[in-house]
Amino acid sequence: MQRTQILDALNAEGPKAEIRVCGWVRTRRDSKGFSFLELNDGSCLTNIQVIVDESVPTYQVIKDVHTGASVDVRGELVESPGKGQRWEVRCTELILLGVADAETFPLQKKRHTDEFLRTIAHLRPRTNKYGAAFRIRSEASYAVHNFYRERGFFHVHTPILTGSDCEGAGEMFRVTTLPVTGATKPESGNYFENDFFGRESSLTVSGQLEAELLTMGLGRVYTFGPTFRAENSNTPRHAAEFWMIEPEMAFADINDDMDLGEAMTKHVVQHVLDHCATDLNLFASFVDKELMGRLETLVKEPFARVTYTEAIDILLAAKKDWEYPVSWGCDLQTEHERYLAEEHFRKPVIVRDYPKEIKAFYMRLNDDNKTVAAMDVLVPRIGELIGGSQREERLDVLEARIRETGQNLDDYWWYLDSRRFGSVPHAGFGMGFERLLMMLTGITNIRDVIPFPRTPNNIEF
Ligand code: 4AD
Ligand code: MG
Repeated sequence: MQRTQILDALNAEGPKAEIRVCGWVRTRRDSKGFSFLELNDGSCLTNIQVIVDESVPTYQVIKDVHTGASVDVRGELVESPGKGQRWEVRCTELILLGVADAETFPLQKKRHTDEFLRTIAHLRPRTNKYGAAFRIRSEASYAVHNFYRERGFFHVHTPILTGSDCEGAGEMFRVTTLPVTGATKPESGNYFENDFFGRESSLTVSGQLEAELLTMGLGRVYTFGPTFRAENSNTPRHAAEFWMIEPEMAFADINDDMDLGEAMTKHVVQHVLDHCATDLNLFASFVDKELMGRLETLVKEPFARVTYTEAIDILLAAKKDWEYPVSWGCDLQTEHERYLAEEHFRKPVIVRDYPKEIKAFYMRLNDDNKTVAAMDVLVPRIGELIGGSQREERLDVLEARIRETGQNLDDYWWYLDSRRFGSVPHAGFGMGFERLLMMLTGITNIRDVIPFPRTPNNIEF
């Protein structure tokens, strides 16, 4: 007999004479002659109640069915007399698939701290909170693809192994097959000559440069893949491995870019509000009481939009003791970003036209020669969710910017070719998928929205 997902059993239209459900036991309560099992199979937050009585041929195994054990249950789906649930299963056959020792299974029914659960990341998908987080992660990922597909963007796969540093921030993880010690120095003095790719190579920090090349042929593209940054900042918002969504549009400018970023953020939030109500409710009840209000404002109201210069004026006027002092030309820190979104505008805000000195070489130089057509979307509680820009499409200006930032033109011959042949105005951005999930769930540590997070000194599992 086919097994029914617990989600479907709970949503059944009527009773069923025969049903089979499988899952992990969350709790067992015993009465004289029968036991109640709360069963969860991950398909949804809600458990199904199973009643096992003495008439079940394997009734004697029930004493070994502890929290965490896995079982295969056949029985009847009947209306539940208990409150809070419509259906329950009257068991006729019970198979204990896998035991879980009551003394050593770490997830006994009590609240555990996030810190503790991180040390058992291999087991935490079996908790309510992490089950809900990873279901929302899946649904949000679907919504991203859905959004771009509906708007004629093609999903492209850009390389993970790379020979160039898109952001120029020097935060790349080296990839090598050279021995750790005792590599012989070639005559040229360049060790990487003997390396796998014959030159220095790394894990990508962004698929943008290749996405730009693809957009020059396909018009509108996006990537959604893992990116890697060896930032040694041990913050709740940075991971060494994170997923980034990077759309790129040909024949588009900074305004199109801001519109796309805002529309995409709203689309994903609305989709999750529509499809993950039960899971979201867990976060709204136990993690962040203001979550629903914030998400509803986000989809309803237009994002605020200001220039970097206006943002600096707002920050200078704020009566705050900044850890990082504010002046025109400084990079915005999380405290500044959060103040703008959380306290000043009380909703997401898009900041544009940053000083060129604090932004990457590929951003389009504005007519003032001081700022570039960059745009960051800042959201309450998190700060930067999206970083993007209109790209420099003028060959001479781009070459000058590469030189100015101390880089080598030869390394970018292929990128520069896209400006040499049929260059067009184009724009794009990168959204950190985990930052989006933090915003969706109210979870404040990036380590808790990735099943197996990679951060400094942490690569277990
Ligand atoms: O602002 P960033 O560095 O932009 C780029 O990489 C561009 N090449 C994107 C583009 O225009 N195609 O990163 C984009 C976003 C940030 O806004 C942030 O949400 C996220 O990626 N991000 C991180 N998320 C988690 N951990 C980290 N260490 C992150 N670094 C950036
Ligand atoms: Mg950025």
